[in-house]
Amino acid sequence: MKRLPMSALRRVPDIVLDGTWEFRLLPYEQEWKRVEVPDLWTMREKADPPHYLNIAMPFDEVPPAVPNPNPTGVYRRTVDLTPPAGRRIILHVGAAEGHLSVTVNGHAVGTSTDSHLAAEFDITDAVSSGSNTIELEVAKWSEATYLEDQDHWWQSGLSRSVFLYTVPEAHLADVTVVADYAAGRGNLQVSVATAGLDHLPEAVWTARITVLGRAQTRTVAPRSVEPAFTPPLTDRSQRPEPSGIPDGFMDLLSMRAADAPITAELRPVAEHAMPPREKAGTAVFTLDALEVPPWTAETPHLEDLLVELISPEGEIGDTTRLRIGFRRVQIEGRDLLVNGERVLIQGVNRHDVDPRTGRIVSRDLMLAELSLLKRFNVNAIRTSHYPNDPDFLDLCDEIGFYVIDEADIEGHAFTNTLAHDPRYLPEFVERVSRMVLRDRNHPCVIVWSLGNETGYGPNHDAAAAWVRGTDPTRPLHYEGAIARDWHAGHAATDLVCPMYPSFQALAAFSADPRADRPVIVCEYAYSQGNSTGGLAEYWRLFESLPGLQGGFIWEFKDHALDPDGDGRHRYGGDFGDEPNDGITLLNGVVFPDLTPKPALYEARGLFSPIRITSGAEEAKAGTLRIRNRQTFADLDAYELRLQAETETGPAGAVTLAAPPSAPGAETVIELPDSIRALLGTALALTVAVHTRQDAMWAPAGTEISAHQVTMPRPVPRLPRGTGTTPAEVRHPLLRRAPQLSLWRALTDNDQSFALDNRFLSTGFFDLTPIGVRADGGTTTIRYRAAFGDEVVHTRTVTALDEGDYLLDEQVTLPDIGADGLRVGMEFELADGFDQARWVGLGPWENYPDRRASALLGAWESPIDELAVPYLKPQENGTRGEVTELLLSGPAGTVQTVHATPLHMNVSRYSAGELETVGHWWELQPSGKTVVHLDIAHRGVGTGLLGPDTRPAYRLSEPEYRWQWRLTLSAAG
Ligand code: GAL
Repeated sequence: MKRLPMSALRRVPDIVLDGTWEFRLLPYEQEWKRVEVPDLWTMREKADPPHYLNIAMPFDEVPPAVPNPNPTGVYRRTVDLTPPAGRRIILHVGAAEGHLSVTVNGHAVGTSTDSHLAAEFDITDAVSSGSNTIELEVAKWSEATYLEDQDHWWQSGLSRSVFLYTVPEAHLADVTVVADYAAGRGNLQVSVATAGLDHLPEAVWTARITVLGRAQTRTVAPRSVEPAFTPPLTDRSQRPEPSGIPDGFMDLLSMRAADAPITAELRPVAEHAMPPREKAGTAVFTLDALEVPPWTAETPHLEDLLVELISPEGEIGDTTRLRIGFRRVQIEGRDLLVNGERVLIQGVNRHDVDPRTGRIVSRDLMLAELSLLKRFNVNAIRTSHYPNDPDFLDLCDEIGFYVIDEADIEGHAFTNTLAHDPRYLPEFVERVSRMVLRDRNHPCVIVWSLGNETGYGPNHDAAAAWVRGTDPTRPLHYEGAIARDWHAGHAATDLVCPMYPSFQALAAFSADPRADRPVIVCEYAYSQGNSTGGLAEYWRLFESLPGLQGGFIWEFKDHALDPDGDGRHRYGGDFGDEPNDGITLLNGVVFPDLTPKPALYEARGLFSPIRITSGAEEAKAGTLRIRNRQTFADLDAYELRLQAETETGPAGAVTLAAPPSAPGAETVIELPDSIRALLGTALALTVAVHTRQDAMWAPAGTEISAHQVTMPRPVPRLPRGTGTTPAEVRHPLLRRAPQLSLWRALTDNDQSFALDNRFLSTGFFDLTPIGVRADGGTTTIRYRAAFGDEVVHTRTVTALDEGDYLLDEQVTLPDIGADGLRVGMEFELADGFDQARWVGLGPWENYPDRRASALLGAWESPIDELAVPYLKPQENGTRGEVTELLLSGPAGTVQTVHATPLHMNVSRYSAGELETVGHWWELQPSGKTVVHLDIAHRGVGTGLLGPDTRPAYRLSEPEYRWQWRLTLSAAG
């Protein structure tokens, strides 16, 4: 017995087998224990913990050798059955991570690999009345393991539900829906395949579909028996009857195929001869010109489709229900079109990951993830790098996401061989085809992906050919096919879908006359640690250059695990897993608990349904121009909440319904006088976009983005510094007086191999004073950096009052051909500060190359909440364009005012402390207040995997000068 063919049908369980099973892990233990299925034993068995590796395999063997020992989990349970007469009993295993062997009552029932698709087995002949024992043996390694070398934890077990269902002998085997949309109408084709009927010589069964209030019935096509050739007559005693084959029939066969003109005398023959034969056991329905709203990610309109199989006696033998959406996906020239319109792909890559369960993902979690993404204006998901739970696609249909559905093929450690290895050809085709057969009725799936990072070879072309022949309604995606040449790989990919391209490459390709396909970047904006710099630059290109249509951020969520739920999230190596790739899986725009990182806020603004296209002058004159960035929807789902940001906080809040505005159109809004009056002195006009209706992904009133028109900014005027003696800054509130700082706790990107240790080579992490020269109110300190280079800091101190200092700074840097990280002052306050208030960009962390969505205003936050707790501690929590900072608490207040806007960082930890620990949770709770105020701070870029921050955001000036004021006042 074998695994049943894959189909798109979703069966309702008759007996759910989730829950308690017996389990043992061979060869490590012989005793049975009780576990709860779904279950990944790697998340609880000390003998075989999760193992994180990105590319390398966790063993030395080569394909197709299976390593030994091979941890094997045996799951066993009994189930009481009374096998119903005339029905088949099917065992459904939602997903087995590893190689699955199924035994029922000691009978071997079948095997399966392909860890992220269901395997079904007809166990009717193996069961009997009463208690039945089902054994699911999952071997961690098999020859198929080499195709599942994704950048994730190696996990094993049963990660999705297990259940039994029954079907009658004659039943629905599959339903294929093509719900096309063109010229404002839906056109539906439903192909019903049955099992158990294709042997019948007569059409006695029927199928019925009901959709949009209409029902249609068709007979299920009978088996047609091909006649055998009759031998030439030997009996010449009688005149033979004519055979009935029309003259010209033989000629017609080839003339049709050649599309040769059919002569007048052959035309009647052509019309009657060779009617297309229906496939036995199937019924095909066509409903054209339906009045139905289309499905798009912005307007995810779904309809119910009911399919019934009816016996000759008129009884309904089998039924299935689907939710369908009418839409057309096509590529025209260099544009991917949905319903004829070019859509921008504002996507993320998503893995199945739950910190508590590893890769067992509940429907609630999927809903929470998709709701979050929708609230942040993400409109597309690549199911990197395997098919997700079918519920996931249901939710994408319903909430509205475009999905690139990816087959479970990643042979990263053997990229140059597997795609050429004929031993793996069947697996390639099967993995891709089974995904397509399962998911092809989902409107959300707009593109099929052949997998990830497995080189490129004929095995891909074979899989591609199968898809093209089976589902011509969707384009293909495969990065490997264009990895070395964006102009190549047409057999396997209809998209140019590179990873981590540079801005230059995208711009050049857009202008290249040879470019012939849409560019949708499959991975970009690499978000490991404090990263995602340059997202706005990518979007400037995507929204302005022909042929570029967006892409998928790498990636949605950190993969850190927390099996015990103690909040101490772990990465590679933390389970004793050796060798490992450490922190390379901490590259989400959300933390494992779904808390958005500042990078996701940056995306939210860029992906917003609106863009402000007018400036300060127009705002002052009372108008605001906005563009509807959507492709299909009006703005009527939103309201705009306007307010002026002033140095003392927001003012003049007013809510307006978003004006009627066609997709892509610009609309002018008259600003209410009340708010206009404030703009003369305001920092900015804020326009927050809120939803107006309850949706399954957010209650009415949810903010989905905020934008600003910034006003010309009055820079704080500071008195001229004349210098007073002593040129010292001392105060009881200062534990450490302001001193030069050129170092930040290196981000993951700062340590990228491509940046070639350039920051370490400056030696700026260690500045030793080697000479001090005082001249009246001016002090010059010469520092020696760790590797001998000299930095000079000159400061003029003017004491304005008790605890009130004006500081004129000048920093001269050595010419060592390397750009720096920060130039600024660092000081530490006495204990007793807990609150920060600043005028500048916020409220979330921002850096020069990741601040397109940050907002100018007067912000407040507890100091403890300014940090962004990247699991691997690094530079975090900086905010730019700050003209004023006020720190307060029981100890008193400390205020700084900056004649040039500075980058501020207020932290409980110094850069050195952040650099010494491997996990945020290793940092000791601290009440310290360490303040950095930088005249220059480097962008974060994505240098670890992708472009570094652009030159404009690097620090390469030889000298910096600025002025600021520090006012300290102790409580009481
Ligand atoms: C890509 C790969 C992803 C992930 C990423 C690094 O090359 O497709 O799966 O490994 O690099 O985090």
